[in-house]
Amino acid sequence: MERSPLSRLVVISNRVAVPKARGVAGAQGGLSGALNSTLKKHGGIWFGWSGEASEQNGSGGDGGNINMQRHDGVTTATIDLTQQEVEEYYNGYANSTLWPLFHYRIDLAEYEREFAKGYERVNERFAESVCPLIEPDDHVWVHDYHLLPLGERLKSRGLNNRMGFFLHTPWPPTRLFVSLPFHERLVDSMLHYDLIGFQTGEWLESFLHYCRKELNANVDEDSGRIELNGRVTHARAYPIGIDYNHVLAQCDTQEARAAGERLLASTRDRTAMIGVDRLDYSKGLPERLDGISRFFDTYPDRVGDLVFIQIAPPSREDVDSYQRIRAELEQKTGQINGARSEVDMVPIRYVNKGHSLADLCGFYRASKIGLVTPLRDGMNLVAKEYVAAQDPADPGVLILSRFAGAAQQLTDAVLVNPHSPDDISHAIRVALDMGLEERKERHAKMLVTVKDDNVQEWTANFTRDLAEVRLD
Ligand code: G6P
Repeated sequence: MERSPLSRLVVISNRVAVPKARGVAGAQGGLSGALNSTLKKHGGIWFGWSGEASEQNGSGGDGGNINMQRHDGVTTATIDLTQQEVEEYYNGYANSTLWPLFHYRIDLAEYEREFAKGYERVNERFAESVCPLIEPDDHVWVHDYHLLPLGERLKSRGLNNRMGFFLHTPWPPTRLFVSLPFHERLVDSMLHYDLIGFQTGEWLESFLHYCRKELNANVDEDSGRIELNGRVTHARAYPIGIDYNHVLAQCDTQEARAAGERLLASTRDRTAMIGVDRLDYSKGLPERLDGISRFFDTYPDRVGDLVFIQIAPPSREDVDSYQRIRAELEQKTGQINGARSEVDMVPIRYVNKGHSLADLCGFYRASKIGLVTPLRDGMNLVAKEYVAAQDPADPGVLILSRFAGAAQQLTDAVLVNPHSPDDISHAIRVALDMGLEERKERHAKMLVTVKDDNVQEWTANFTRDLAEVRLD
């Protein structure tokens, strides 16, 4: 096979879209398609956790057994973790410490030494396992908060490859971040990457502020160049997009049409409003329900105009805070529906299962309001998918939290403060009453961003900068 002029790419992330998991990610994990097509173009491998726990594969100095598969032009390599590693690294440090902290929820963050140690051990195991698969000219691209110290671990094994890191979540303000024990050590380890990407200028700014303030690094705010102990890292913002053409193609399938028709037939003459989120406290779901309840209270004559569909597949179910948010949502939906249902009408449909992207596209198009109100979100691709799936001749209205990264780009959405029930309630009213011309105008402007700043552009920008970054 003719060798691509581009360097081979080694993508490393906690989860790998292995073939058996494909086709179900949809809006809940829009990244996999983009990385797969980038890997097809560059060649290379995608390495990560299999998602399985098994006791046999603990590290025996070789990082454990690697399962290599080739599917549709992409090679994936995965390792199992032990149950203890899953507890300490995935449920523990990644999702009970860093995730809440990075979403500004230090009230939920658990700072356990065992979690931190397990996290370091798994990062070391990742390094041990993937190291032999990396060739000298490969570019390495590590993803997300599970693997912040991996670049350092790889470099300490003698690798001198270009290494980039992208954080899919927000980066919190310094005043919150310093609540993390050994925060300096963690960020210092990140500064072994050559390039660090953030979703928005806001998260980038917080990171640069931290490096200057807490590490005394030499930081150039304009270029994002950070120098510490003779090492140079560049940090920049790369807002992620969706695979626009893929979403459009999915909208055009029989499956999407059938899903849309099914939804419309069931809502009769009421306006369908949709939310699609992983069941996560960062998504502002109870606050969203409070806003809807406030709408029903404030505009009693409009109760019959609206039906709200919340699709919320459960996530990270072994983590306490996720069990609590699930219980809270069940209670709130029950309360609102109990108070507001008629024998032939339930105002809130709460669906705990995932759907294919084609189904979601059909639902998005049939819903004249998209409600995306996270309390904090790195980007939020559901907002972008909702825009892409609309009929440009009669588009729906996107109500979007101003605290989602996407709000920096989709400024023509109806922007809301997700903490304020009145704000959400008012936005629903505005969306219901918005005339066709205004809807078309807002949608057309958002569509330009969603179409142009797509995920292919995002991967191209990041990989191009990664190739150039050591040249200055
Ligand atoms: C967020 C994270 C991803 C993660 C995804 C699903 O989008 O940024 O890294 O893969 O949630 O969460 P899970 O814990 O199921 O991988």
